[in-house]
Amino acid sequence: MAVSPASAQDLATGLREVGYLAGESTALVAFLAARLGKPVLVEGPAGVGKTELAKALSKYLGRELVRLQCYEGLDEAKALYEWNYRKQLLRIQAGEKEWSELQDDIFGPDFLLERPLLHAISSPDPVVLLIDEIDKTDQEFEAMLLELLSDFQVTIPELGRVEAVTHPVVLLTSNNTRELTEALKRRCLYLWLDYPETAHELEIVRMHAPELPERVAAKLVEVVRLVRELDLKKPPSIAESIDWARALLLLGADDVDEATFRSTLSIIVKHRTDLDTVAERMGVKLGGVLSA
Ligand SMILES: Nc1ncnc2c1ncn2[C@@H]1O[C@H](COP(=O)(O)OP(=O)(O)O)[C@@H](O)[C@H]1O
Ligand SMILES: [Mg+2]
Repeated sequence: MAVSPASAQDLATGLREVGYLAGESTALVAFLAARLGKPVLVEGPAGVGKTELAKALSKYLGRELVRLQCYEGLDEAKALYEWNYRKQLLRIQAGEKEWSELQDDIFGPDFLLERPLLHAISSPDPVVLLIDEIDKTDQEFEAMLLELLSDFQVTIPELGRVEAVTHPVVLLTSNNTRELTEALKRRCLYLWLDYPETAHELEIVRMHAPELPERVAAKLVEVVRLVRELDLKKPPSIAESIDWARALLLLGADDVDEATFRSTLSIIVKHRTDLDTVAERMGVKLGGVLSA
């Protein structure tokens, strides 16, 4: 059933019910997006809940999630639409019509293959459109998106303008590996998602591993916070905190002491040089917490 939140608080409660703990600014921006129909650009490091936010929104709003996973070299044919060449060829080979007639026929809607973007605006029920990791595409692709994001329409040369049947709630995510164009940013609401505050992260960890003793969870979150301060190539994100919590639960750990930390370190630190950094600095930086 489709839902429309009455307030940011209302939306935060709804997201919580589907397993997502939104911070204040996340709830506010998501609320505005749902009500104003503006796309949201969600930027931040990997593993802080950008993709999950879109999934949770689609569940809460009772809308289908249409996901376009971006990658280098992604083009219109994979993102927007493609002609069904095989079907066109078969129709031509059938030889029933003159060429002029055929042309109108085989470049009609019946021969169009909808890719995620076109699907998202032609769906009779409004969807949540997730354009994930937009920073992996190039500026040309961004330019193509502009028409879609500002007017909810696309132009297909053979067919003309295709206007949206329904307006999707659009979330674009970026891991911030390159600057996005000003033109794109201008069309979006902006949400910067960072590593959460300690209390917030503790709540997220406890939601994902409720059986882990609270004291262990609290210490885990504190250790992760300190490890993040070490200037690593890839600091541990919420995803790593959750993995670590689940592992500690499975191992029956009742404390995060130095031995436990050492033996499970590779769950939260995944670069060889980062492992070295942690080993070098851990006495100074983590000694106090681990022995507490
Ligand atoms: N606010 C949150 N509430 C609940 N779970 C979260 C939250 N933020 C992140 N997570 C969890 O952390 C993991 C990583 O999130 P994900 O959305 O994949 O990160 P990103 O897309 O930013 O790289 C997921 O398992 C997700 O469930
Ligand atoms: Mg993601």
